[in-house]
Amino acid sequence: MPQATLTLHPDFRIGDVDPRLFGSFLEHLGRAVYGGVYEPGHPQADKRGFRKDVLEMVRELGTPVMRYPGGNFVSGYNWEDGVGDAGARPARLDLAWKTLEPNSFGTNEFIEWCREAGTEPMLAVNLGTRGKDSARYFVEYCNHAGGSNFSDLRAAHGHREPHNVKLWCLGNEMDGAWQIGHQTADEYGRLACETAKMMKWADPSIELVLCGSSGRAMPTFPEWERKVLEHAWEHVDYISLHTYLRKTGDDTPNFLAQSLQMDHFIREVVAACDYVQSVKRSKKKINLSFDEWNVWYHSIDEHGKHEPWQFAPPLVEDTYTLEDALVAGCMLITLLRHADRVRIACLAQIVNVIAPIMTRTGGPCWKQTIFYPFQHASKYGRGTVLDTRPCCPVYDSRDFEAVPYLESVAVLNEEQESLTVFAVNRHLEDALDFQVDLSAFARLHVLEHIVLDHKNPLATNTEENPDRVKPRTAKTPAIKDGTLKVSLPRLSWNVIRLGRKG
Ligand code: AHR
Repeated sequence: MPQATLTLHPDFRIGDVDPRLFGSFLEHLGRAVYGGVYEPGHPQADKRGFRKDVLEMVRELGTPVMRYPGGNFVSGYNWEDGVGDAGARPARLDLAWKTLEPNSFGTNEFIEWCREAGTEPMLAVNLGTRGKDSARYFVEYCNHAGGSNFSDLRAAHGHREPHNVKLWCLGNEMDGAWQIGHQTADEYGRLACETAKMMKWADPSIELVLCGSSGRAMPTFPEWERKVLEHAWEHVDYISLHTYLRKTGDDTPNFLAQSLQMDHFIREVVAACDYVQSVKRSKKKINLSFDEWNVWYHSIDEHGKHEPWQFAPPLVEDTYTLEDALVAGCMLITLLRHADRVRIACLAQIVNVIAPIMTRTGGPCWKQTIFYPFQHASKYGRGTVLDTRPCCPVYDSRDFEAVPYLESVAVLNEEQESLTVFAVNRHLEDALDFQVDLSAFARLHVLEHIVLDHKNPLATNTEENPDRVKPRTAKTPAIKDGTLKVSLPRLSWNVIRLGRKG
């Protein structure tokens, strides 16, 4: 059996996890909003039309922040269309996804939904077709206490108390030719700088995310980062990055290794931020908002082929396999290992659209395979990430060299006196004999070893069979002479939870 080892010490730390690392994303896209979170008339809908069954699952994920309303959608969105008398809102052609947007769900509905879901809103402003004015008025509408045109309008719309939205994105993927109002780095950098200034003048307490590259393969990366940061440095707090991983052919080893490119991307964006910091002779550090990440390839062939201008057609609805959950798990581990610089991350998306939660419009909802690694990381991954150097055998794949069979990270929670090790075994055939040196920790014992695996790596959860892939509790491993010995099944996601003895 191949062996892997990990040595943990409470003094060797990467950084504290910002809970917003476990954020997610709701876009006006396909059935994410309509038929996903919002479906008036559904047997599970509350009086506002929010699906209670979906809300319950979102709460189970414990996601502290939710990005909205896009995505590509935001670059053609007028926020004013989605507020006020629901019966008087205009239906619009959404050019991003070629669908009909009725605007019956808008900012106030979203904020109310967030309060129900136990999450904080992260709003994006439209820098595609609109700009500074609309952005500063949007901040005023949401956050100003009262006595001004837009804050009074909010009150007239039934929301006397300000929404206090703290986190805002300055547009979306402005480097991409597919984006409504695509710009060059200099054009966007100038616009973002001036918009950011005005938004912060309207509410100095907000934090702003500048658009970085929509992917590592973009031809403008990393010059885009350098230029936009040089323009907007003084007025922004984070820079975004997005990554969707895909499987090509049936090359599982290469697919499982894809998270390594996310790791490289993070390192490169950190380097770009720190480069501009030194150019600017600045004390300020810009951190990263990985505000779109996931696995996305199952629905790629259907892309753009639907009949245009339909209301809420099923778009981008990937059905995830066990393998996909392992890649999502590797991505979560990667984000945690960079917790010192990646402060915000959003699993894209939350319901129906490349999502952990699926619904049938008019029917039930169920959990996809990727639900579980995300839920575990969100629940047990809060605290301080320890600095570790795992040792294990490696393999070469089509795109990567020296891919470790083990992907792992450990998070110490001093308040709860607990330690959690997350681990993925990438090996297609063999279990990994995993030994964790815990001698630097006194009186720890294993609370639980959770495993997500399946005899068929392509197994999925569906409406008919919603629990085919779900976590199980493995036999509790023992700690002997300060070393934890545990077997990680082939192709598995593992959560080993340790706590202090009485
Ligand atoms: O999440 C789906 C889409 O992917 C988003 O709208 C866009 O930002 C990205 O390209």
